[in-house]
Amino acid sequence: MISESKELKDELFRRKLRRYGAEKGSIIPLLQAAQEIYSYVSEEAVSMISESTKIPQSSIFGVATFYKQFRLKPVGKHIIKVCQGTACHVNGSKEIMKAVEDHLSVKEDENTKDGMFTLLSVACLGCCSLSPAVMIDDETYGKLTPDAIREILDSYRKTEGEEK
Ligand code: FES
Repeated sequence: MISESKELKDELFRRKLRRYGAEKGSIIPLLQAAQEIYSYVSEEAVSMISESTKIPQSSIFGVATFYKQFRLKPVGKHIIKVCQGTACHVNGSKEIMKAVEDHLSVKEDENTKDGMFTLLSVACLGCCSLSPAVMIDDETYGKLTPDAIREILDSYRKTEGEEK
C-alpha cells in the first residue's frame, strides 16, 4: 500500500518534470511541486529535478535552502502551524506554542517521535480576528487557550488511535 502511494506520487512528480522539464526558471515550481506531492523536498526529488533540468544538485539544494518555504526533512502526518504574527503574539501565541511543545514533547521545526505531528511557527495565518490561531493541516482553530489546544491535540491522537 505504501509503495503504491509512493509510485503514484513518483508518477505525479514525473508528470511535473515532463511539463516543466528544461524550461528556464523551472527550479522553484519543481521544488514547490515536490513539496506538494511528497510533503517535503527529498534528496531523491532533487536528483530527479537535476536529471531533468541538467542543473547540478548542489545548485538546486542552494535554492531550496535559500527559501524558507521549502522543507528538506520528512514531515509528520499532521502539520501544526502556530501563528506568531502580531495579533496572535499580542494575544498569547507564545503560551500556545509552549503548550504544544510541552504536550507533544516536541520543539519547533521538529517532528514528534511517533511521526504524527510536525510543529512549525508561521507569520500571520490571515485570520487575526481569531487570534491566537493555529492551523492543523487545512483546519484553522482560533481564540485558543493552552487548555483548548491541548484538547484539540488529544482529539487528533484519539482519532488516530481509533483508525488503527
Ligand atoms: S496574526 Fe495570527 S492570524 Fe494574523
